[in-house]
Amino acid sequence: MSAVAPSDFTRAMAQVPSPVTIVTTTDGSGRRWGFTASSFSSLSLDPPLVLVCPAKSAGSHDTFVAAERFMINILSAEQAAIARHFARSGHDKFTTGDMVPCELDLPGLPGATARLACTAHAVLDGGDHSILVGRVEAVYVGDQEPLVYHNRTFTRPEAASPALAAAR
Ligand SMILES: Cc1cc2nc3c(=O)[nH]c(=O)nc-3n(C[C@H](O)[C@H](O)[C@H](O)COP(=O)(O)O)c2cc1C
Repeated sequence: MSAVAPSDFTRAMAQVPSPVTIVTTTDGSGRRWGFTASSFSSLSLDPPLVLVCPAKSAGSHDTFVAAERFMINILSAEQAAIARHFARSGHDKFTTGDMVPCELDLPGLPGATARLACTAHAVLDGGDHSILVGRVEAVYVGDQEPLVYHNRTFTRPEAASPALAAAR
């Protein structure tokens, strides 16, 4: 039993600004899957590895754990609505037509600020989540501002204040 109350843990983590991604894949039958994820991080430069963590309770968890390839769409500041759309379970998330075949033929968002197409490198246990480690095989880099999740709200990076600029 942990000494830390779950509410204290989540309140502390809410203070951490996070990227907002939509992770997608296509299964062997051709069905597309996707979910909104902030648990994304760069892991290694050589080889180029990234990680993202699906909850074991998510409807798409088993599909992503078994996936040979997956795409990480890093959302731009204008894409909060699609982040909410892919954070809802139990509906067909791909009816809006926002996702199109992109790198490695994986479902991608044209308006994303970056996309990382990955092959599965490892799957690790992470408590009530799994840790998907992906080897980056292809990238797209846009120039939009990224979407940020902070204090349980979608926001965007703020311009540096004069005080911060002076500290540079
Ligand atoms: C900003 C934000 C970040 C999220 N990050 C994660 C995450 O890193 N891992 C995760 O499993 N769920 C995360 N979620 C919740 C999932 O998007 C949500 O549970 C989704 O419905 C799962 O889809 P599925 O049940 O169809 O697989 C996040 C939701 C939001 C709004």
